[in-house]
Amino acid sequence: MAELLIDDLVVVFGTGRTAVRAVDDVSLRVPHGTIVGLVGESGSGKSTVARTIAGLQQPTSGSLRLDGRDLFARGRADRLARSRDVQMIFQDPYSSLNPRMSVGETLDEALAIHGDGTAKERAAGVRELLELVRLKPDVAGQYPSHLSGGMRQRVAIARCLAVRPKLIVADEITSALDASVQGAVLNLLRELQRELELSVLFITHNLAAVRYIADTTAVMSRGRVVEHGPAAQIVESPTHPYTQSLVAAIPRIEHAGTDHLLHAGLAS
Ligand SMILES: Nc1ncnc2c1ncn2[C@@H]1O[C@H](COP(=O)(O)OP(=O)(O)OP(=O)(O)O)[C@@H](O)[C@H]1O
Ligand SMILES: [Mg+2]
Repeated sequence: MAELLIDDLVVVFGTGRTAVRAVDDVSLRVPHGTIVGLVGESGSGKSTVARTIAGLQQPTSGSLRLDGRDLFARGRADRLARSRDVQMIFQDPYSSLNPRMSVGETLDEALAIHGDGTAKERAAGVRELLELVRLKPDVAGQYPSHLSGGMRQRVAIARCLAVRPKLIVADEITSALDASVQGAVLNLLRELQRELELSVLFITHNLAAVRYIADTTAVMSRGRVVEHGPAAQIVESPTHPYTQSLVAAIPRIEHAGTDHLLHAGLAS
């Protein structure tokens, strides 16, 4: 469990007249063991916030703290702790997995990087990780190209769990999947979050998905958080005009099948 506190985060790309203020004074809290949804139009700054939390992007100003520890502290020990404590899962598991490594090798490597035991202990660790994401043990011998999109995303989730993170930043992790498996991956994430008491920042375009999975939801527009509240309230009675326009676009999501899917059996 961990609490993420973001205060007055600013990220500017470029300089002078062409500078883009991608993140414009964002403050956001992800409390211990909760899922906070982050929605907003394309280009509103969601991924830039995510990448900054994961240490892939330097903030221009502002502070990010996990359980009080500055995520941008300069010390090597702090950087190591951050790389363990915060893990990111991306939209496209195919590009984030090495095609030349079997699933078992990928998971073994993730365990080894963080110094987890002997080869034999790691083999047991690989089996545990696969079980955790509800994959059969024989998947260890397979390569990413032989797996379905949903299975690849499960492998990506297992790899991120190998280092026992406290906070997971999930950026559009179901967007590239068939509608029929999106719900299953959402369910898995929610179950794991409860089982392992993770804190999660869940980024999506899909309001049905945040209503289903998130405890609270923040809405971004043009680099700013314009609204943050209980997920159901944001979707059912948004107060900000921008959120209202997002909600008005929900029928398009229903059309894509996800909303229907979430209502059909998974939300029970
Ligand atoms: N490395 C970069 N260099 C310059 N500009 C960038 C860079 N990364 C992002 N931007 C700009 O910052 C703004 C926010 O982008 P970001 O990717 O964070 O949006 P997003 O909300 O994740 O969008 P999407 O929903 O399409 O994924 C955009 O205007 C984008 O063009
Ligand atoms: Mg993005």
